[in-house]
Amino acid sequence: MDYFSKFEELKSENLSLDLTRGKPSSDQLDLSNSLMETSENLAMFESLDLRNYGEIKGIDSCRDLGAKILNCDKDLVWAGGNSSLSLMSQFLTFLFVQGNGGGPWSNKERISVLCPVPGYDRHFKLCETFGINMISVPLTGRGPDLGEVKRLVETDESIRGIWCVPKYSNPTGEVYSRDTIEGLLDIFGNQSRKNIIFWDNAYAVHDLSNQPPLIDIFSLAQDKKCEDSVVQFGSTSKITFAGSGIGYIAMSKTNQELFLPFYSSLMIGPDKINQAKHVIFFKDVDLMDHMKKHAEIIKPKFDLVISKLNSQSLGKWTAPDGGYFLLYESDNGMAKRIISLAEELGLKLTPAGATHPYGIDEEDKYIRIAPTACSLEELDKAMDVFLCCIGLASEERRN
Ligand SMILES: Cc1ncc(COP(=O)(O)O)c(C=O)c1O
Repeated sequence: MDYFSKFEELKSENLSLDLTRGKPSSDQLDLSNSLMETSENLAMFESLDLRNYGEIKGIDSCRDLGAKILNCDKDLVWAGGNSSLSLMSQFLTFLFVQGNGGGPWSNKERISVLCPVPGYDRHFKLCETFGINMISVPLTGRGPDLGEVKRLVETDESIRGIWCVPKYSNPTGEVYSRDTIEGLLDIFGNQSRKNIIFWDNAYAVHDLSNQPPLIDIFSLAQDKKCEDSVVQFGSTSKITFAGSGIGYIAMSKTNQELFLPFYSSLMIGPDKINQAKHVIFFKDVDLMDHMKKHAEIIKPKFDLVISKLNSQSLGKWTAPDGGYFLLYESDNGMAKRIISLAEELGLKLTPAGATHPYGIDEEDKYIRIAPTACSLEELDKAMDVFLCCIGLASEERRN
């Protein structure tokens, strides 16, 4: 193919396309529209006056919903706010101000957290904001490289935790194996260090086909007597409405007791009316049937990306069983060039390096593709642009 001519042809189309953020498309959001149309009077719900303050941990039935999503014991789950990211930031604030039993993190000279890479840019941004030193560890396709994790934890006293997206990891799409989860617990379960595994289970029920649920990390941790070393997060952002959903945090009884006074100082109660709306919605709608409907909308988009990439066969890419992302891997030193060529053609891609701490992908080869937000037609065009840019960048490399 003459990529240069194709590039000029696409440029003349003055396109405006975007494959940056993992957002639900409007037809996915439509699946939950009845949430906004409930005819029930929500003043009194399950013997609670929802209009008033209170129920800091969230209403019981909404915590049940969280337990179902996260596949863990309901007593561990709190429903709070509209986003898991803000719960992560609140928990980090708690660690810095008060700590989880080993003194406030702010008193320590240096706090480091392991960041499996390629990973989620907002975890990295949170760390940067809090002044947490980030140490990259490679992912293996079944979770983080345990040998490297162990070596680092044993040699660096400043390490206090690890970020994990255990199911359909953003952006590699991998699912952590049972061995990896057990290995992480063995390494981080040492309670003298008060380590935390930040278990961001954002894609717990976001399968593209029938898949088994992820094993409950709390039950494994209980067997190993280290349940205090896990804090789990999730939300309904990509189940119902992104921005008007329910955020979840789940942790051991001991951690709840430590966190509760701090959390209660930040607020007097969550939005219980939205929680009740979610409970009512999922009385009529089966959660897994609902997620199948999401998959029916999303899967053709993933298939399209993969078939387009197959048609050109330059580089490597993932074919995940769920989640919101595919990951394209170019030859070393090409990601930035591909992204800047795409920008010239009006296609926005996640900045090169976003998949790594401090925005630095030393090999300059990873590009995250978020195919869900646009229509199939837009995606088709966006992939033509992407392939053209990959082709042109490869040709430039050869010459
Ligand atoms: C791994 C991961 N965690 C958290 C979030 C944000 O979730 P929330 O909307 O609940 O803040 C995302 C969104 O893309 C994500 O990919």
